[in-house]
Amino acid sequence: MATTFLFDWFVPCPRGLEAPLAAELGEIGAKHVDGSQFRIGKEVPGGVHFRGSWAAGMAANLHSRIASRVLLKLAQGPYRSEHDIYELAYQQQWEKWFSPNETIRVDITAIKSPLRSLEFATLRVKDAVCDRLRELTGNRPSVDTAQPDVRVFAFLTLNECTLYLDTSGDPLFKRGWRLDKGAAPLRENLAAGILRLTGWTPGTPLYDPMCGSGTFLAEAAQVALNIAPGVERRFGFEKLKQYDVNAWQKLKGAAVDAKRAAQSSRADIQIYGSDISGDMLDKAYSNLERAGLPELSLKQIDARHMTPPSDTPGILVANPPYGERIEVRGRGPRGELREPKNRGHDEDEDAFIRAQPDPADQEFFISFGNAMKQRFPGWRAYVLTSDRKLPGLLRLRESTKTPLFNGALECRLFRFDLIAGSVRNRPAAAEPAADQAPDAKE
Ligand SMILES: C[S@@+](CC[C@H](N)C(=O)[O-])C[C@H]1O[C@@H](n2cnc3c(N)ncnc32)[C@H](O)[C@@H]1O
Repeated sequence: MATTFLFDWFVPCPRGLEAPLAAELGEIGAKHVDGSQFRIGKEVPGGVHFRGSWAAGMAANLHSRIASRVLLKLAQGPYRSEHDIYELAYQQQWEKWFSPNETIRVDITAIKSPLRSLEFATLRVKDAVCDRLRELTGNRPSVDTAQPDVRVFAFLTLNECTLYLDTSGDPLFKRGWRLDKGAAPLRENLAAGILRLTGWTPGTPLYDPMCGSGTFLAEAAQVALNIAPGVERRFGFEKLKQYDVNAWQKLKGAAVDAKRAAQSSRADIQIYGSDISGDMLDKAYSNLERAGLPELSLKQIDARHMTPPSDTPGILVANPPYGERIEVRGRGPRGELREPKNRGHDEDEDAFIRAQPDPADQEFFISFGNAMKQRFPGWRAYVLTSDRKLPGLLRLRESTKTPLFNGALECRLFRFDLIAGSVRNRPAAAEPAADQAPDAKE
């Protein structure tokens, strides 16, 4: 029997979700790929390495809910200058993967690189790829930064350069069905990672009282119905000269069959949502429909007046409006935001917390906290926010807080255990201790 060649892969994700991603990749390997073709590697800030066959890389693209991309590692070497990076890129057999007819895009990320211009280094990688293909074929590929056929990524540390070929194309949080975005929708892979961090499993009631365009609901429904997140989209590897076409047809066929079976099932998946805005609920309904999901029960309610949607307790999950991005609705006039005074001492802290809570926000969050305490005994609530003072505003003591990044915005996922009579009041000004946030990314 022929041995299957194993490649090194790197799977980036939103920072803070490395451990859930590693667990998810392990499950994908066990379920969709021959065990000998898959070995999970190191977690690093911003992603997870693994070793596996082409089938493993394609399965990660199709089935990972948390990954941002799946990158195939081509080479790694020391560098001191842009010239060394050019040489490393020039030596790679790009012609094995694509022809000069494909358009390309190169991106570089770096940690502690001594190079003065990453833009110049990016140009040198692009030149190396184009020069090699021109010398071999007489033609050079064109650059298309918007919709390239092929993406090349380089990652620089202090003295090492790693070259990757992207196999995803559009980032994986684009599931291929979202048209209607809310004002500040969560990325699908961040929502999926948060669901995993909550420990929610299908069969347990799940409620998002500020569901907006329905990201948590759609991600949870797909988990409950066993629908692969990538079943509706195409992937970058489909444009490469070589990938394992037979393995791909099998993986995709099984995912399409599973989705058909899910659509004909009439299971009550106990996933509920509400929002104060009827427009948002319309968006959520059309997103759920486009994703081929069953119609869920969505209600137009102010979160201050919410009641449990199920007889048995479950998980409440929400990302309330961020002061910086959109405003809380259904409350009085907005107060002034004050610039933090101590800028310069701790820039991160300053960027993260608002100096003084807006009085109308304060009133909203106190009522929302009361609604949770009084009407949701036995539930576990998870709230994603960039406001470190949120537990104080809600008058709830958090059980855990997990640092997460929503794009560039540093957030915390606060967990509150709503046990009747045992939640302690705390002053609004109380500030939780600083966390160790992940600080680097590959
Ligand atoms: C940050 S967005 C949530 C985005 C959502 N997770 C998504 O992916 O689209 C906050 C949501 O809170 C809703 N909202 C604001 N004030 C509210 C209130 N008083 N009660 C319920 N929902 C409210 C907004 O309409 C908005 O949809």
